[in-house]
Amino acid sequence: MTTAEAILPATPQIEGANFLNLLIVDDERAIRDACGEVAQSLGFNTFTADSAEHAYKQLESQGIDAVLLDLRLPGAGGLEALNQIKCRRPDALVVVVTGYGTVQSAVQAMKNGAFDYVTKPFSLDELRVLLDRLVNHLKLKTENRMLREKIKSKQGFGSIIGRAPEMEKLYRIIGKAAHSTHPVLILGESGTGKEWVARSIHFSGPFRDKPFIPVDCGSLVPTLIESELFGYVKGAFTGAMYAKDGLLAIAEGGTVFLDEVGELPVDLQAKLLRAIQEKEIRPVGSTKRIPINVRILAATNRDLELAVSQGAFRRDLYFRLNVLSLRIPSLRERRQDIPILAAHFLERLSRSSGQERTLSDDALKAMLAYDWPGNVRELENCLERACAFTTGPMLHLGDLPVAVSNLQASGSTAGGNGTSKIIPMAELEKQTILNTIAQLNGDKLLAARLLGIGKTTLYRKLKEYCSQD
Ligand SMILES: Nc1ncnc2c1ncn2[C@@H]1O[C@H](COP(=O)(O)OP(=O)(O)OP(=O)(O)O)[C@@H](O)[C@H]1O
Ligand SMILES: [Mg+2]
Repeated sequence: MTTAEAILPATPQIEGANFLNLLIVDDERAIRDACGEVAQSLGFNTFTADSAEHAYKQLESQGIDAVLLDLRLPGAGGLEALNQIKCRRPDALVVVVTGYGTVQSAVQAMKNGAFDYVTKPFSLDELRVLLDRLVNHLKLKTENRMLREKIKSKQGFGSIIGRAPEMEKLYRIIGKAAHSTHPVLILGESGTGKEWVARSIHFSGPFRDKPFIPVDCGSLVPTLIESELFGYVKGAFTGAMYAKDGLLAIAEGGTVFLDEVGELPVDLQAKLLRAIQEKEIRPVGSTKRIPINVRILAATNRDLELAVSQGAFRRDLYFRLNVLSLRIPSLRERRQDIPILAAHFLERLSRSSGQERTLSDDALKAMLAYDWPGNVRELENCLERACAFTTGPMLHLGDLPVAVSNLQASGSTAGGNGTSKIIPMAELEKQTILNTIAQLNGDKLLAARLLGIGKTTLYRKLKEYCSQD
């Protein structure tokens, strides 16, 4: 099958192909047309290009998922074109088409990142098998992408931000915990997002339509916690004018989140243990027991094992709550997430204030060096404060709290005694851009966002730097 005259039998479409964009790059029109027809009959959306330059333009304007690339293109050599395509769209799968059965160039192409190769002349069946493989591979990638999107989406793992490996691990555990009904103990320092994790477990599980009820065991007085959790009957105590259902009953089918569970008084710990074990509660002042059907999530920033060894927390309750446990890393254990979190909070603040703001290189550096004892909450407050007190579009080192900025100022070379050498603006800009990209582990899009420049500008500047070197 190398010409447009090929008679195409009615082939069934490949499931999943209709979401995929295939770019066919060949200087021979007949081949472009024939391959295009086959791919379309399988369900692909197709685009064509008759030269490498034309292909690059298509790559920039269309969301291309896969490329069928003739290695014998006029102008740019086929391998050069492959490199350029991978540079512009690293995710796209490229199948190279080689002529005359020259396996050597195909092997080189595979080494340079091609997904597969096919030699001319090839049959309709060969092309179909190849495109089939392509779809399966892309489907897997798309599913992964969807999973990642789900993690980021509101319904999935809520607004928990973080890409550090420890966080990815956490998301996997949240995913599993969401589909179980066992208690989960969520551990983590203050401000690491324990409540958000609890919400994510509930809202990404099958009972998301049922209630999620947080109870702050740390701030309520003990008698109040008891009547809140278990409910009471009319006249149970002075002021109990009416009977009230307990939260453990109200949450029927859903989740009760016991925040700061380490603060629960010992006598209440015994009552809670009994409620969990026997799946029933006795309202204050009542002799009747009420069955409950509720999932318990608990959180604490205290060392519960220590509390157990000191007799401040019941060992049996600890074991009950700790069927599954999950530890959220502190922010200083995942510093690579600081820029993403900062970008997230700045974006949210800009939505409410209408003013877009970015961080200066120095400010970001200081934030990366700081230990954040109050974790994500402290970072969020720090940016909120900085935005409230700054009118310009950029947050500078001086706009950050002293605790954060001091660290950087003491190690900084800026503001010396006037004898430091003068650095041209262009050079400063180059250093800022390259440093930011390095600090962000090569994430150019995020770098552009934090530096407040468009991604096209950033790419253009990087190209300029490459040609200077
Ligand atoms: N991973 C995260 N992504 C986005 N925001 C987060 C994240 N973790 C925490 N936050 C933010 O930090 C704030 C504190 O989170 P949360 O109340 O869940 O912390 P906590 O661990 O319960 O702290 P504490 O022990 O002090 O109660 C939240 O309001 C939320 O805005
Ligand atoms: Mg909390």
